[in-house]
Amino acid sequence: MDFKVTPWEVEGEVDYDKLIKEFGTSPLTDTILNRIEKITGEIHPFLRRKIFFSHRDFDWILDMYEKGTPFAIYTGRGPSGHTHLGHMMPWIFCSYLQKTFDATMYFQITDDEKFMHRRDLSLEQTRIYAYDNALDFIAQGFDPEKTFVFTDIDYAKTLYSIAVKIAKNVTFSTVKAVFGFKNSTNIGMIFFPAIQAAPCFLPSELEKRKAPVVIPAAIDQDPYWRITRDVAEKLGYYKPAAIHNIFLPSLEGPSGKMSASLEESAIFSVDTPQDVKKKVMNAFTGGRETKEEQQNLGGNPDVCTVYQYYYFMFEPRDDALLERKEACTSGEILCGHCKKELAHRITAYLTEHQKKREKARDMLDQFLLKD
Ligand code: TRP
Repeated sequence: MDFKVTPWEVEGEVDYDKLIKEFGTSPLTDTILNRIEKITGEIHPFLRRKIFFSHRDFDWILDMYEKGTPFAIYTGRGPSGHTHLGHMMPWIFCSYLQKTFDATMYFQITDDEKFMHRRDLSLEQTRIYAYDNALDFIAQGFDPEKTFVFTDIDYAKTLYSIAVKIAKNVTFSTVKAVFGFKNSTNIGMIFFPAIQAAPCFLPSELEKRKAPVVIPAAIDQDPYWRITRDVAEKLGYYKPAAIHNIFLPSLEGPSGKMSASLEESAIFSVDTPQDVKKKVMNAFTGGRETKEEQQNLGGNPDVCTVYQYYYFMFEPRDDALLERKEACTSGEILCGHCKKELAHRITAYLTEHQKKREKARDMLDQFLLKD
């Protein structure tokens, strides 16, 4: 295997078709997309472009919805640093799902996980990031009446009583096989999958009904849902459904995901226009060595991170995207031009986001669950 995807590590150039087979998920087919379009009258660019590309039981979520049983959405964040654009993609998608399907939304922030996993982070630090990251989530425009945000430490009492029921039904040999835990893994991490599984059942507990749940998240989190699905029915809940996105590429090259640990490879929610400009101007492109070569031979958008950024978030119009692609491959536009425009668009996006993020500070209490 020339790539590796686990919840804590993504290495190499990911082959997403292989991953579907390896993880045992299902591709998000056109049949499902057509169904979504029929129900809602639209199709989100993330779906149209197969940025969300895989799922477990998403068709069942639609069945339930059509039968009049609303679903809940669950996603989360490991607060190990500032939020970057790659983290925000699933949240943007959650916000769209909440608005379109009038769903309740649950957001787990794993201050415990990041403290236990990362030697270099104190619990104080992950808790500071937790509440800072929460602002980026809330800034996506969630309904405070229907959205619940919690950190594991501050909502421990409720989560723990669900987690112990899960943990009792999951053996060490299972988590060893699923997560690759070793004898040297600390016991906090070995128990932790039960904590990340717990919010899958939280909607049923809080909404006092057997609630269908769908989890939009990057594909690296899927191992958790595999375990949760195995215990769900035994505990009287539905198996959680999932819908998986691919990773936003690192600005430094086509392989791997944007990483919060590599400052230059990612655009953070708190970046200034200067930061953005610098990172984008230094990004890896599919351009040629010289201007002449580029004009004669054209660039290669398929390996270009700048093009990928347009594709993922910054050019939602299909015709404009195609135009850009053709202008690149024909040598009509140069990388400098393409980068400048991207930096511009990202800055405009972040300026808006940062305003919403500040407003979220005053709204935080309306969203938080504590016990
Ligand atoms: N473990 C995740 C991370 O490190 C955080 C998380 C908790 C999460 N619950 C989730 C992510 C549900 C997606 C969906 O980022």
